[in-house]
Amino acid sequence: MSDPAMIRRVGVVGTGVIGASWAAFFLARGLDVTATDPAPGAEQRLRDAVRRHWPTMQRMSLADGASPDRLRFEPQLERALEGCDFVQESGPERADFKADLYARMDAATPPQVLLASSSSGLPVSGMQVRCEAPQRVVLGHPFNPPHLIPLVEVGGGEATSAESIRRAMDFYAALGKRPIHVRREILGHIANRLQAALWREAFHLVDQGVASVADIDTAIAHGPGLRWALMGPFMNLHLSGGEGGMAHLLEHLGGPIESWWHDLGDPSMTAELKAHVVQGVADERGARREEALERTRDDLLIDLIRAKGAGGTLP
Ligand SMILES: NC(=O)c1ccc[n+]([C@@H]2O[C@H](COP(=O)([O-])OP(=O)(O)OC[C@H]3O[C@@H](n4cnc5c(N)ncnc54)[C@H](O)[C@@H]3O)[C@@H](O)[C@H]2O)c1
Repeated sequence: MSDPAMIRRVGVVGTGVIGASWAAFFLARGLDVTATDPAPGAEQRLRDAVRRHWPTMQRMSLADGASPDRLRFEPQLERALEGCDFVQESGPERADFKADLYARMDAATPPQVLLASSSSGLPVSGMQVRCEAPQRVVLGHPFNPPHLIPLVEVGGGEATSAESIRRAMDFYAALGKRPIHVRREILGHIANRLQAALWREAFHLVDQGVASVADIDTAIAHGPGLRWALMGPFMNLHLSGGEGGMAHLLEHLGGPIESWWHDLGDPSMTAELKAHVVQGVADERGARREEALERTRDDLLIDLIRAKGAGGTLP
């Protein structure tokens, strides 16, 4: 099963927020999906979520033969995984729980089937400890919502093979995702650490009274955030160096940037700071409803992803 085209049926384990979004994505890429989740009412919630996401998937482009009717639901894990060529696990974020779940998924599938975890922060090494074929357990960490955002962080644990990581990356890439390789197990992987670094300073600036919550959001959403969606922090820095590029920029501004690093904050999540931020967001939101904000976000996101050519089947 080293050719991504040989993967026809995906097992989606756990159908909460992330699993349901993955299911809609795999279905839209023309795959068969068998989903499993033991929670009462899970099947109905999953089918409702896929129905809700489907117009978005149609806007993003559907693969030939893609249909929400190719979704099967089976509450019993072992039965659900029969005949699956790839498994995307999105169960609860608890280390002991995942170790048990991977032991069961390992016993229920042939050793060449990749078992990929959506985990936001747990190490794969802990998930694969009780597997007979631990080399096929990988990280496949998406960004919310996985049916829209192209990034998937792929990595492994101590027992994961390089071949499994390559196969997982090939599979996600073949579906139009933008996988990156997390080369070493680290808390929060890559993108969440980058977000955490920004949040840390944002909370600090609010805590110190330098900026309001709305000021911080304006600073990013109408400033560097616009550029970051296009080419990321390093390439933007390179362009800021003019003809001399990154080398000139670092020569010129490297010292000041380093002095800012030394001055960055180290806030604590006190009850007072949390209340301050909650109130700040309420003030910023005003009379606008969350549903309307989400719709605006998703509509613009689709336009942006399409314009960038990174979504769906676009190159
Ligand atoms: N929410 C996010 O923004 C986000 C983003 C990226 C990754 N993740 C990761 O995705 C995973 C799922 O997160 P979520 O936000 O969808 O959580 P969630 O609570 O919405 O969904 C978890 C689901 O797992 C189900 N479950 C419980 N036991 C199970 C079992 N034995 N077999 C199968 N399913 C079982 C639960 O019933 C529930 O529906 C976590 O590992 C999380 O770290 C979350």
